[in-house]
Amino acid sequence: MKAVKENPNLNHDQLIAETVKFVKHTLEGAESGHDWWHIQRVWNNALQIIKTETAEQLIVELAALLHDIADSKFHNGDEEIGPKIAGDFLYSQQLPQDLILNVQQIIRNMSFKVSLGNKEFHSRELDIVQDADRLDAIGAIGIARAFTYGGFKNRELYNPGILPSLNMSKEEYKNSTAPTINHFYEKLLLLKDKMNTETGKRIAAERHVFMEQYLTQFYKEWNGK
Ligand code: ADP
Ligand code: NI
Repeated sequence: MKAVKENPNLNHDQLIAETVKFVKHTLEGAESGHDWWHIQRVWNNALQIIKTETAEQLIVELAALLHDIADSKFHNGDEEIGPKIAGDFLYSQQLPQDLILNVQQIIRNMSFKVSLGNKEFHSRELDIVQDADRLDAIGAIGIARAFTYGGFKNRELYNPGILPSLNMSKEEYKNSTAPTINHFYEKLLLLKDKMNTETGKRIAAERHVFMEQYLTQFYKEWNGK
């Protein structure tokens, strides 16, 4: 059994199992865009990506598992709530402070909103988890998540009179009330060129083509063809 390098009393698999238990419990009843299944998909994506990367696997796995433990959108915009809850859990597992601070930095810097603002932290582990999360925002799953989010916000599916708004600031993106199809142009179709890793780029390319095909079909049906 593999021990955790930073604390030889801890076993890697046990620590991950504890984290899975904590995340599942905390996310019980969460909306489907950020529920346990999203976390599991991101975790799997991250494990796939790390195979071709040099990075600390424990940090990647912990950050993937804890990255959506609390969403600022549902906590009055408090962007520190996620890192705080993740940190409290990791301290309860007797992990060393530098590892915890590292995981918290990744969580803080992951979201698309943050990448629209100033980026002050960088690591290969962040690159990997960010790609893993972005992959879950595109392709068939990404489409499902976008319409679920749009439905939650009571947005129109599409409105030919409201054009997508590119180059939005962090604030404008957060407050946008545009139809869900606009989100494809404002975010989803931009993600393939933002991927950090080779594996991420390859998977994103395939999912991107699927979204383009989806949009072509969507407009065809919209126009009664
Ligand atoms: P992130 O955590 O990367 O900042 P969000 O929490 O904003 O992403 O988004 C979570 C999911 O909801 C993603 O799949 C995203 O595409 C979708 N989503 C976010 N904003 C919108 C929107 N305005 N319209 C449709 N889907 C959205
Ligand atoms: Ni996520």
